[in-house]
Amino acid sequence: MSRDSTKKILSVAFLLCLVCSVLVSAAAVLLSERQELNKIEEKRKNILQAAGLYQAGRPVDEQFSQIESRILDLQTAEFSDKFDPAAFDSRAAVRDPQTRRQIPAALDLADIKARSRFQAVYLVLEDGQLQQLILPVHGKGLWSTMYGFISLADDLTTVKGFAFYEHGETPGLGGEIDNPSWKQQWQGKKIYGDSGAVRIRVLKGKVDKTSPDAIYQADGLAGSTLTARGVDNLLHYWMGEDGYQPFLERLKKEGIKL
Ligand SMILES: Cc1cc2nc3c(=O)[nH]c(=O)nc-3n(C[C@H](O)[C@H](O)[C@H](O)COP(=O)(O)O)c2cc1C
Repeated sequence: MSRDSTKKILSVAFLLCLVCSVLVSAAAVLLSERQELNKIEEKRKNILQAAGLYQAGRPVDEQFSQIESRILDLQTAEFSDKFDPAAFDSRAAVRDPQTRRQIPAALDLADIKARSRFQAVYLVLEDGQLQQLILPVHGKGLWSTMYGFISLADDLTTVKGFAFYEHGETPGLGGEIDNPSWKQQWQGKKIYGDSGAVRIRVLKGKVDKTSPDAIYQADGLAGSTLTARGVDNLLHYWMGEDGYQPFLERLKKEGIKL
C-alpha cells in the first residue's frame, strides 16, 4: 500500500480515533471516583463557608470533622435514620416518588413546585452543645434556581452566614449575590420576629441602619430586583411553616437530642 493511498489515510484516521476514544473513555472511568470526591469536598467547603468556619489551605475533610450531618424529616420535624447523610442527594430525592413532596401553589413561595421530604442538615457542636445549624435552601431567581446554605446561631434565628453555591443569575447583576460584601451583611440579621413569624426581608434599596427594623432587613441588589426578590421568597419558604420552622420550633422547646 502506498503511503498516500486513500485506504492507508482512512486506516490511520480510524486507528487514531480508536486510540483517542479509548483514552477518553479510560480517563472518564478512572477519574469518575475522583470527580465524585471533588463534588463532596466542594459541597463541604460551601457548608463550612456558610458557617464562617472555612480556612483556606487546611484540608476540607479535617475541617468538616467538626460538623455533624443529620437527615431531617420535614414531615415529622424529627431526625431520621432512613438515609446516610454523607450519601444523601436531596435533588435526586425530589425526583423519587417515595420522598418527593409536591408543594401546593399557595405555599410555593420559592417557586420550586416540589421538594424532598428529607433534607441533610448540618450541626456545629462544641462539647455536645449546638453552636450553629446549617440548612440548605433553594428557590427561583430571575433565570435560575439558586442553591445555598444558611447558618443560624444557637438561638435558631440569628444568621451566622448565608451564601449561594450554585445559580445562573447574570454576573454583575443578580450574580452579585456572590459579592462578599453582600454576603457579609447577613451576619447578625434575624429571621423571626417576636411573634415567631418569618420577618426577614430583602429590600429594594439599602437598609436604613438607624431603623429598628434593620435587624430584619438586608440590602437589595441594584438593578436586580428580581433576583433579590427570589432570595426573599426562598427564605420565606424555607424558614416558614412548610420548610424548617416546625423543626426549629421543636428544637427551641426541646433542645437537640443526638
Ligand atoms: C441581559 C440582562 C440580564 C439581567 N439579569 C438580571 C439578573 O440576573 N437579575 C435580576 O434581578 N435582573 C436582571 N436583569 C434586569 C431585570 O430584567 C429587571 O429589569 C430588574 O430585575 C429590575 O430591577 P430594578 O427594579 O432594580 O431595576 C437583567 C436584564 C438584562 C437586560
